[in-house]
Amino acid sequence: MASTGPLILAVDQGTSSTKALLVAPGGRVVSRGAAPVSERQPRPGWVDQSAEEIWESVRRAVADCVDPALAPHVAGVGFSTQRESLVLWERHTGRPVGPLVSWQDQRTTRQCLDLAATGAGALVRAASGMPLDPMFSALKARWLLDAHDPDRRRSLAGELCLGTVDSWLLSRFGGDHVVEVGNASRTQLMNIATRQWDGALLDLFGVPREVLPRITASCGDFPALRGLAPLPDGVPVLAVMGDSHAAMFAHGGWRPGVVKATYGTGSSVMAVGDCDDAPGLCRSVAWDVTGPVLAVEGNIRATGRALSWLAELFGISPEALLEEAAEQAPDGVHLVPAFGGLGAPWWEPDAVAVLSGLTLGTRRGHLAAAALEAVAFQVEDVLTAVERATGEVRVLLADGGLTRSARVMQLQADVGGRVVSRSAEHDLSSLGVADAAGLAAGLWTLADLEARPRPADEFRPRGDELDRAARRAAWHEAVRRSRPRGA
Ligand code: G3P
Repeated sequence: MASTGPLILAVDQGTSSTKALLVAPGGRVVSRGAAPVSERQPRPGWVDQSAEEIWESVRRAVADCVDPALAPHVAGVGFSTQRESLVLWERHTGRPVGPLVSWQDQRTTRQCLDLAATGAGALVRAASGMPLDPMFSALKARWLLDAHDPDRRRSLAGELCLGTVDSWLLSRFGGDHVVEVGNASRTQLMNIATRQWDGALLDLFGVPREVLPRITASCGDFPALRGLAPLPDGVPVLAVMGDSHAAMFAHGGWRPGVVKATYGTGSSVMAVGDCDDAPGLCRSVAWDVTGPVLAVEGNIRATGRALSWLAELFGISPEALLEEAAEQAPDGVHLVPAFGGLGAPWWEPDAVAVLSGLTLGTRRGHLAAAALEAVAFQVEDVLTAVERATGEVRVLLADGGLTRSARVMQLQADVGGRVVSRSAEHDLSSLGVADAAGLAAGLWTLADLEARPRPADEFRPRGDELDRAARRAAWHEAVRRSRPRGA
């Protein structure tokens, strides 16, 4: 039997799967479990998930991970979750009302552009730290309420609950309507300075305060769990974080100068710290473990998603696509995967996906290689914005599923002229929230975490600055074509 010391169970609820890790003191992973989750695109630009399926996937991933003999040794649980996605449910039955509207969803693009035309963007950015964009939860909240409680009567009567994925899971497994501060920050309804719901933002988006959860710190006052077999009922939730924030925590991101990119369905490039002006980026609360910590971040909507889209189109696996890409240069082909508009640093929800540079000689491998390059170019565009906001970025810490591709990592180093340090651990979101949960339980200290080895391998840039500049200029020409109001 594996370790029987106090264990932390970390659950990472992401867009395409839920993963669970059992972690022993010292950070050793004792066991892992996973369960897939599906998404639907009922109309062009709409992306839904089932809140019930997400809840069920957590139960399955935990059952897959935790040997019943080890369950009594679990000191507590940490949750890291996909952010911005939103659920509306009935307080008394716990039943979802409508679908979970995914962070990828673009159904509110029109409302977003209309609101931007009124000049509301400046207020939104000043109060929430974020640009007006359909990715954040505020417009999803308005859409869900307009669809299911148009006069807000049920919301005002306390019959309905809105929540992000952490809030939904804590309600289902703990019976309390609560949200962690970093996740609340990404709704665009929270004031970044006060860390409370902002009255002006609630009015602007038509969201009654009564429908929103209580905001709490990342290691705050969460309900104990029940119905998460094989854990006994009553196991405490010790920490909750947004998935990208948890990955930053696992990189040791509380130290200044750390910049990381998480390569998932989309990508998040993040640096801890604050600055008054971060053009092209968001300012959000990263976490509140021993006090609130702010971060600047740029979100890219489609990185891994661009590759899985192309693999689906070709009827091959993403792995086979990566192999094809490895054998081929794109030869002038560019893919700008603005499937749901462009996120950072452009923030243009009406940008369109563009494939350019096609010739009669273009083959599958060229498209695969172009999709791979698009990942690296998009991350580099955000890194340039981070550099402007926070100072020079020499080393990028990389994590997430797509970092398994050495080709993506080398491309990243080459297009930016920066060293890329790839984490040897792929599940950094789970490990980050496990780190925070263990701190809360007193199983380890921040000094222990500082001293913990973080195994990684490095990719050094090749090519010269002239070549890099020419490649980036060609990429930006393709991006310009994707932007209807392009610069
Ligand atoms: O902001 C959205 C992000 O939290 C989703 O992450 O890993 O589920 O693609 P992931």
